Amino acid sequence: MLASLRAVLALGGVAALAAGCQGTVSRDAPLHPVQNMDFQAKFEAQEANAFFPDGRGMRPRVAGTIPRGGLKDDLHRDWGQSADGTWATTLPPGMELSAELLARGRDRFDIYCAPCHDATGSGKGIVVERGMTPPPTFHQDRLRKFSVGQFYDIATHGVRSMRGYAAQVPTEDRWAIAAYARALQLSQYARLEELPPDVAAKNGWKAPEKAPVVLPPEPPAKAPAAAKTASTAAPQGK
Ligand code: HEC
Repeated sequence: MLASLRAVLALGGVAALAAGCQGTVSRDAPLHPVQNMDFQAKFEAQEANAFFPDGRGMRPRVAGTIPRGGLKDDLHRDWGQSADGTWATTLPPGMELSAELLARGRDRFDIYCAPCHDATGSGKGIVVERGMTPPPTFHQDRLRKFSVGQFYDIATHGVRSMRGYAAQVPTEDRWAIAAYARALQLSQYARLEELPPDVAAKNGWKAPEKAPVVLPPEPPAKAPAAAKTASTAAPQGK
Protein backbone atom coordinates (compact mmCIF):
# COMPACT_ATOMS: atom_id res chain seq x y z
CA MET A 1 0.00 0.00 0.00
CA LEU A 2 2.68 2.42 1.14
CA ALA A 3 4.91 1.36 -1.74
CA SER A 4 2.24 2.05 -4.35
CA LEU A 5 1.54 5.42 -2.74
CA ARG A 6 5.23 6.26 -3.02
CA ALA A 7 5.21 5.19 -6.67
CA VAL A 8 2.26 7.45 -7.39
CA LEU A 9 3.93 10.38 -5.66
CA ALA A 10 7.17 9.78 -7.53
CA LEU A 11 5.36 9.58 -10.85
CA GLY A 12 3.48 12.77 -10.02
CA GLY A 13 6.76 14.49 -9.28
CA VAL A 14 8.26 13.40 -12.60
CA ALA A 15 5.14 14.58 -14.44
CA ALA A 16 5.26 17.96 -12.69
CA LEU A 17 8.94 18.37 -13.63
CA ALA A 18 8.24 17.38 -17.23
CA ALA A 19 5.29 19.79 -17.47
CA GLY A 20 7.39 22.67 -16.14
CA CYS A 21 5.94 25.54 -14.19
CA GLN A 22 3.02 27.71 -15.09
CA GLY A 23 4.16 30.67 -17.13
CA THR A 24 7.34 28.94 -18.36
CA VAL A 25 7.86 29.49 -22.08
CA SER A 26 8.96 26.52 -24.17
CA ARG A 27 9.45 26.01 -27.87
CA ASP A 28 8.99 22.25 -27.57
CA ALA A 29 5.79 20.60 -28.63
CA PRO A 30 3.63 19.93 -25.59
CA LEU A 31 3.70 16.41 -24.16
CA HIS A 32 0.93 14.37 -25.64
CA PRO A 33 1.01 11.02 -23.83
CA VAL A 34 -2.47 9.78 -24.76
CA GLN A 35 -2.65 10.10 -28.52
CA ASN A 36 -6.13 8.73 -29.09
CA MET A 37 -6.77 9.35 -32.77
CA ASP A 38 -5.48 12.90 -32.73
CA PHE A 39 -2.88 12.40 -35.45
CA GLN A 40 -4.74 10.47 -38.11
CA ALA A 41 -5.50 11.81 -41.56
CA LYS A 42 -8.96 13.35 -41.45
CA PHE A 43 -10.92 16.44 -42.33
CA GLU A 44 -12.06 18.63 -39.52
CA ALA A 45 -15.16 20.80 -39.36
CA GLN A 46 -15.11 23.68 -41.86
CA GLU A 47 -11.86 22.41 -43.41
CA ALA A 48 -11.34 22.77 -47.16
CA ASN A 49 -11.25 19.64 -49.32
CA ALA A 50 -10.18 19.88 -52.94
CA PHE A 51 -11.74 16.49 -53.68
CA PHE A 52 -15.22 18.00 -53.97
CA PRO A 53 -16.04 20.56 -56.68
CA ASP A 54 -17.36 23.05 -54.09
CA GLY A 55 -14.14 22.73 -52.07
CA ARG A 56 -15.91 22.01 -48.78
CA GLY A 57 -14.89 19.17 -46.48
CA MET A 58 -18.28 19.21 -44.74
CA ARG A 59 -20.86 17.72 -47.06
CA PRO A 60 -24.38 19.12 -47.26
CA ARG A 61 -27.28 16.72 -46.75
CA VAL A 62 -28.42 14.92 -49.87
CA ALA A 63 -31.57 16.69 -51.07
CA GLY A 64 -34.74 14.94 -49.98
CA THR A 65 -33.22 12.89 -47.15
CA ILE A 66 -35.14 12.78 -43.89
CA PRO A 67 -33.56 11.68 -40.62
CA ARG A 68 -35.09 8.61 -39.00
CA GLY A 69 -38.16 9.74 -37.07
CA GLY A 70 -38.02 13.14 -38.73
CA LEU A 71 -40.86 12.72 -41.23
CA LYS A 72 -43.47 15.36 -40.48
CA ASP A 73 -46.41 14.48 -42.66
CA ASP A 74 -49.24 14.54 -40.13
CA LEU A 75 -51.01 17.85 -40.60
CA HIS A 76 -52.71 17.73 -37.20
CA ARG A 77 -50.05 16.17 -34.99
CA ASP A 78 -46.98 17.78 -36.58
CA TRP A 79 -48.34 21.10 -37.80
CA GLY A 80 -51.29 21.80 -35.50
CA GLN A 81 -53.65 22.22 -38.44
CA SER A 82 -56.98 20.77 -39.56
CA ALA A 83 -57.52 19.34 -43.02
CA ASP A 84 -58.87 22.69 -44.26
CA GLY A 85 -55.71 24.51 -43.17
CA THR A 86 -57.21 26.22 -40.11
CA TRP A 87 -55.65 25.81 -36.66
CA ALA A 88 -56.70 22.59 -34.99
CA THR A 89 -59.06 23.06 -32.08
CA THR A 90 -58.48 19.62 -30.59
CA LEU A 91 -55.55 17.48 -29.56
CA PRO A 92 -54.32 15.13 -32.31
CA PRO A 93 -55.87 11.66 -32.49
CA GLY A 94 -54.37 9.36 -29.90
CA MET A 95 -53.90 12.09 -27.29
CA GLU A 96 -56.50 12.35 -24.55
CA LEU A 97 -57.19 15.56 -22.68
CA SER A 98 -56.74 14.40 -19.11
CA ALA A 99 -55.57 15.65 -15.74
CA GLU A 100 -52.28 13.81 -16.31
CA LEU A 101 -51.75 15.52 -19.65
CA LEU A 102 -52.37 18.93 -18.09
CA ALA A 103 -50.05 18.09 -15.21
CA ARG A 104 -47.36 17.20 -17.74
CA GLY A 105 -48.11 20.40 -19.65
CA ARG A 106 -47.78 22.43 -16.48
CA ASP A 107 -44.49 20.77 -15.62
CA ARG A 108 -43.05 21.51 -19.09
CA PHE A 109 -44.56 24.99 -19.27
CA ASP A 110 -42.98 25.92 -15.96
CA ILE A 111 -39.59 24.83 -17.31
CA TYR A 112 -39.68 26.05 -20.90
CA CYS A 113 -42.15 28.94 -21.03
CA ALA A 114 -42.55 30.42 -17.55
CA PRO A 115 -39.08 32.03 -17.45
CA CYS A 116 -40.46 34.61 -19.87
CA HIS A 117 -44.24 34.20 -19.74
CA ASP A 118 -44.37 33.53 -15.95
CA ALA A 119 -46.33 30.71 -14.37
CA THR A 120 -49.72 32.26 -15.19
CA GLY A 121 -48.91 33.38 -18.74
CA SER A 122 -49.20 37.06 -17.85
CA GLY A 123 -45.82 37.79 -19.45
CA LYS A 124 -43.94 38.91 -16.34
CA GLY A 125 -41.41 36.09 -16.05
CA ILE A 126 -38.07 36.33 -14.31
CA VAL A 127 -36.29 37.14 -17.60
CA VAL A 128 -38.60 40.10 -18.05
CA GLU A 129 -37.78 41.24 -14.52
CA ARG A 130 -34.15 41.27 -15.67
CA GLY A 131 -34.92 43.59 -18.54
CA MET A 132 -36.31 41.61 -21.51
CA THR A 133 -39.18 43.19 -23.43
CA PRO A 134 -42.24 41.49 -21.97
CA PRO A 135 -44.08 39.01 -24.17
CA PRO A 136 -47.81 39.63 -24.55
CA THR A 137 -50.06 38.29 -21.82
CA PHE A 138 -52.10 35.19 -22.70
CA HIS A 139 -55.04 36.84 -20.93
CA GLN A 140 -56.13 39.25 -23.63
CA ASP A 141 -58.92 38.86 -26.16
CA ARG A 142 -56.60 38.39 -29.13
CA LEU A 143 -54.82 35.42 -27.56
CA ARG A 144 -57.98 33.99 -26.00
CA LYS A 145 -59.07 33.34 -29.58
CA PHE A 146 -55.96 31.21 -30.25
CA SER A 147 -56.81 27.54 -30.49
CA VAL A 148 -54.75 24.74 -29.02
CA GLY A 149 -53.24 24.13 -32.49
CA GLN A 150 -51.99 27.69 -32.67
CA PHE A 151 -50.36 27.45 -29.24
CA TYR A 152 -48.80 24.19 -30.41
CA ASP A 153 -47.47 25.93 -33.52
CA ILE A 154 -45.94 28.75 -31.47
CA ALA A 155 -44.35 26.27 -29.05
CA THR A 156 -42.98 24.42 -32.11
CA HIS A 157 -41.88 27.14 -34.50
CA GLY A 158 -41.85 30.25 -32.32
CA VAL A 159 -43.40 33.55 -33.33
CA ARG A 160 -41.65 36.74 -34.46
CA SER A 161 -38.89 37.38 -31.88
CA MET A 162 -39.67 34.21 -29.88
CA ARG A 163 -37.83 31.06 -30.90
CA GLY A 164 -39.43 27.64 -31.26
CA TYR A 165 -38.91 24.79 -28.83
CA ALA A 166 -39.14 21.78 -31.16
CA ALA A 167 -35.44 21.03 -30.66
CA GLN A 168 -35.78 20.69 -26.88
CA VAL A 169 -39.38 19.68 -26.29
CA PRO A 170 -40.80 16.55 -27.97
CA THR A 171 -44.04 16.76 -29.97
CA GLU A 172 -46.30 15.20 -27.32
CA ASP A 173 -44.98 17.57 -24.67
CA ARG A 174 -45.56 20.57 -26.92
CA TRP A 175 -49.20 19.51 -27.24
CA ALA A 176 -49.37 19.12 -23.47
CA ILE A 177 -47.95 22.64 -23.09
CA ALA A 178 -50.48 23.98 -25.60
CA ALA A 179 -53.36 22.35 -23.72
CA TYR A 180 -52.04 23.73 -20.44
CA ALA A 181 -51.73 27.23 -21.92
CA ARG A 182 -55.43 27.06 -22.84
CA ALA A 183 -56.19 25.85 -19.31
CA LEU A 184 -54.26 28.83 -17.94
CA GLN A 185 -56.42 31.14 -20.02
CA LEU A 186 -59.55 29.49 -18.68
CA SER A 187 -58.19 29.79 -15.13
CA GLN A 188 -58.22 33.58 -15.48
CA TYR A 189 -61.36 34.00 -17.54
CA ALA A 190 -64.11 31.50 -16.86
CA ARG A 191 -67.76 32.07 -16.16
CA LEU A 192 -69.16 30.65 -12.95
CA GLU A 193 -71.57 28.46 -14.92
CA GLU A 194 -68.60 26.82 -16.62
CA LEU A 195 -67.20 25.48 -13.34
CA PRO A 196 -68.28 22.16 -11.88
CA PRO A 197 -70.92 23.11 -9.25
CA ASP A 198 -69.04 21.49 -6.37
CA VAL A 199 -65.93 23.59 -7.13
CA ALA A 200 -67.90 26.82 -6.88
CA ALA A 201 -69.68 25.66 -3.72
CA LYS A 202 -66.47 24.47 -2.05
CA ASN A 203 -64.81 27.83 -2.63
CA GLY A 204 -67.90 29.84 -1.80
CA TRP A 205 -67.87 31.52 -5.21
CA LYS A 206 -71.13 33.20 -6.11
CA ALA A 207 -72.15 35.18 -9.14
CA PRO A 208 -72.06 38.88 -8.31
CA GLU A 209 -75.47 40.42 -7.86
CA LYS A 210 -76.50 42.23 -10.96
CA ALA A 211 -75.77 45.91 -10.66
CA PRO A 212 -78.70 48.14 -11.61
CA VAL A 213 -78.40 49.34 -15.17
CA VAL A 214 -77.42 53.00 -15.25
CA LEU A 215 -77.95 54.68 -18.55
CA PRO A 216 -75.49 57.40 -19.52
CA PRO A 217 -77.01 60.88 -19.47
CA GLU A 218 -78.53 61.91 -22.74
CA PRO A 219 -76.32 64.25 -24.72
CA PRO A 220 -77.77 67.77 -24.84
CA ALA A 221 -79.97 68.20 -27.84
CA LYS A 222 -78.21 69.95 -30.68
CA ALA A 223 -79.43 73.31 -31.62
CA PRO A 224 -80.72 73.32 -35.17
CA ALA A 225 -78.21 74.77 -37.62
CA ALA A 226 -80.53 77.49 -38.81
CA ALA A 227 -81.11 78.88 -35.34
CA LYS A 228 -77.37 78.94 -34.69
CA THR A 229 -76.71 80.95 -37.84
CA ALA A 230 -79.47 83.29 -36.90
CA SER A 231 -78.05 83.84 -33.42
CA THR A 232 -74.55 84.60 -34.76
CA ALA A 233 -75.95 86.83 -37.44
CA ALA A 234 -78.00 88.77 -34.96
CA PRO A 235 -76.03 89.24 -31.69
CA GLN A 236 -78.22 88.86 -28.66
CA GLY A 237 -79.34 92.20 -27.46
CA LYS A 238 -80.76 92.98 -24.02
C1 HEC B 1 -36.99 33.57 -23.87
C2 HEC B 1 -38.31 34.05 -23.57
C3 HEC B 1 -39.49 33.22 -24.02
C4 HEC B 1 -39.76 31.90 -23.76
C5 HEC B 1 -38.92 30.94 -22.96
C6 HEC B 1 -41.04 31.61 -24.37
N1 HEC B 1 -41.53 32.73 -24.97
FE1 HEC B 1 -43.33 32.90 -25.87
N2 HEC B 1 -42.92 34.84 -26.35
C7 HEC B 1 -41.75 35.50 -26.03
C8 HEC B 1 -41.75 36.81 -26.65
C9 HEC B 1 -40.65 37.85 -26.53
C10 HEC B 1 -42.97 36.91 -27.35
C11 HEC B 1 -43.42 38.07 -28.22
C12 HEC B 1 -42.89 37.83 -29.61
C13 HEC B 1 -43.08 39.01 -30.53
O1 HEC B 1 -44.17 39.53 -30.61
O2 HEC B 1 -42.09 39.37 -31.19
C14 HEC B 1 -43.68 35.66 -27.12
C15 HEC B 1 -44.94 35.40 -27.60
C16 HEC B 1 -45.67 34.26 -27.31
C17 HEC B 1 -47.06 34.07 -27.64
C18 HEC B 1 -47.99 35.11 -28.24
C19 HEC B 1 -47.88 35.20 -29.73
C20 HEC B 1 -48.64 36.38 -30.29
O3 HEC B 1 -49.19 36.24 -31.41
O4 HEC B 1 -48.70 37.43 -29.66
C21 HEC B 1 -47.39 32.82 -27.22
C22 HEC B 1 -48.76 32.15 -27.33
C23 HEC B 1 -46.21 32.22 -26.65
N3 HEC B 1 -45.18 33.13 -26.72
C24 HEC B 1 -46.13 30.95 -26.14
C25 HEC B 1 -44.99 30.40 -25.58
C26 HEC B 1 -44.89 29.03 -25.15
C27 HEC B 1 -46.01 28.00 -25.22
C28 HEC B 1 -43.62 28.86 -24.66
C29 HEC B 1 -43.00 27.61 -24.10
C30 HEC B 1 -42.86 26.52 -25.02
C31 HEC B 1 -42.94 30.14 -24.78
N4 HEC B 1 -43.80 31.03 -25.36
C32 HEC B 1 -41.65 30.37 -24.35
C33 HEC B 1 -40.73 35.03 -25.24
C34 HEC B 1 -40.62 33.75 -24.78
